[in-house]
This record gives sequence, structure tokens and C-alpha cells, in this order.
Amino acid sequence: MIEDFTPQLKAAVAAARVAGDFLKARFSEIKLVNVELPHDIKLQLDKDTQQLITQSLFAHYPHYSVLGEEGESGDMGADYLWIIDPIDGTVNYFYGIPIFCVSIALQVRGKIVLGCVYDPMQDECFTAIAGGVASLNGLPIQVSARKRMAEAVVFVGHGAHDGSGEEGVRRFAHISSQVRKIRILGSAALTLCYIAAARFDAYIENRINLWDFAAARVILESAGGQLEYTPDSAAGHSGAVIAWNGLLPIHAALKMPSK
Ligand code: IPD
Repeated sequence: MIEDFTPQLKAAVAAARVAGDFLKARFSEIKLVNVELPHDIKLQLDKDTQQLITQSLFAHYPHYSVLGEEGESGDMGADYLWIIDPIDGTVNYFYGIPIFCVSIALQVRGKIVLGCVYDPMQDECFTAIAGGVASLNGLPIQVSARKRMAEAVVFVGHGAHDGSGEEGVRRFAHISSQVRKIRILGSAALTLCYIAAARFDAYIENRINLWDFAAARVILESAGGQLEYTPDSAAGHSGAVIAWNGLLPIHAALKMPSK
């Protein structure tokens, strides 16, 4: 029997909205920094928000496990696993740039079955159940029909991991002459949802964490897009992502000339 994940999606949307409102209410406040790295910042609010999301989800699904940017709870090999990024775009949030979101996915027996990405500043809620239709605030969305790199807007990630920013800049330089515009948004989840909604056409980042894109991947694929993920290692939670509208010749465009 095919399981219907509509109730779980409703729970994810409710949790994402509670978390998003919590973050929006604190957007202009001075934020407590827990960890400061060369290319990343971790806030106390990351932890508080993950706790809020977990509590909200546990109220409906107490036996599901959680893998989040801010820690794990339960058995990571469990059949039902929520994958959470409480603030995707933490550096933006910290600097007062209103481009960030809450991201919640549900993985069932190793497969991501639903995703919810909520941008509280725009009140935009992107959702999808795998195999269904992607939507933005309840209305269906679809990727762009752009086929030529020359008309594409492509996003390059500037990763939090050492070295990945430099690699991003190299790709930025390589691809910039082929496309209409290059952008760096600072939130992988929102970038993927924007491709799903035909606002952008492609996204590349060479080192990204599972919780940054798990929810948005279902939304993108349900909107007709494609995402290739190459894990760094079999056990890890990070890897390289190439995402696009399914039409652009993104691989050919990314090919670097041999030295
Ligand atoms: C980051 C954002 C950013 C991406 C980084 C991520 P975080 O997530 O998604 O766009 O380039 O690789 O780490 O730390 O804000 O959740």
C-alpha cells in the first residue's frame, strides 16, 4: 500500500511556520554567536529554533528520529527521519540580510518523501510530496523553460567549508561569461526552491550538507527540475550539488578547460 504523507507534510508546514515566525520576530535583535568560523557563523538561535521545530514535530510524531544541523535525536537508521535546517542562510540572518528560511524534510526508509521550505520574510512556503506537485503557498509551480546557457541565471554557492568558497569563485569565473547572470544568494534551500519556481535556472555548490538541500530537492524535482548529489564519503552528510531546470546543458557549461 502506498503511504499518504499529507498529514506529515501538514505537521512540517506547521513546525516551519512556528519557527519562521520566531526567527522573523528576532530578525532585528542582536544575536548571540555560539561559534564563529572563517566562512560560517553558528547562532544560539539556530539551536533554539531547531528545538522549537523538534517539539512541534514530536507532538504529532513522537517516534520519528531527527537529523538536524544542530544535532540528532533518536536512531539515525530509523525508518522515519526528519531532516532539519532551522536557519538556512544563517550568515544572511546574522548580518540582517532578509534571505533565509526554515527547511524540513522527511526521509522514510532512506528516501526523502516530502519537503517544506518556509521563508518568513516573504511569507513564502514551498512544499512537495515526492511524486506529487510542487507548490508555493498552495499554488503549483514549475521550473523555467530556458534551454540556453546564454539566457540562464545561475547560482554558485559560497560554502561554509574551507576551500569550497575558492572553488565556488573558480566556477563563478568559468561560467559567468556563458550565462546572463551569476548570483550568490546565501541560502541553498531557497535557491533550489527559486529554480523550482522558475525564478532561477541552475545552482552549483561543491560542498553542501544534506540538511541544506534535502527538503528543497523534493520540491525542485516535483517541479520538473533535476539535482545531482555526489557525497564526499559514504558515511558523511555533505557533498557536491548540481541542480538545474532539467533543460540547460549545465554539465557542458561547467567543464573546465584542461590545464
Ligand atoms: C549554508 C547556506 C549557503 C551554502 C552553505 C550552507 P547554513 O547553510 O545554505 O547558501 O552556501 O554551504 O552551509 O549554514 O546557513 O544553514
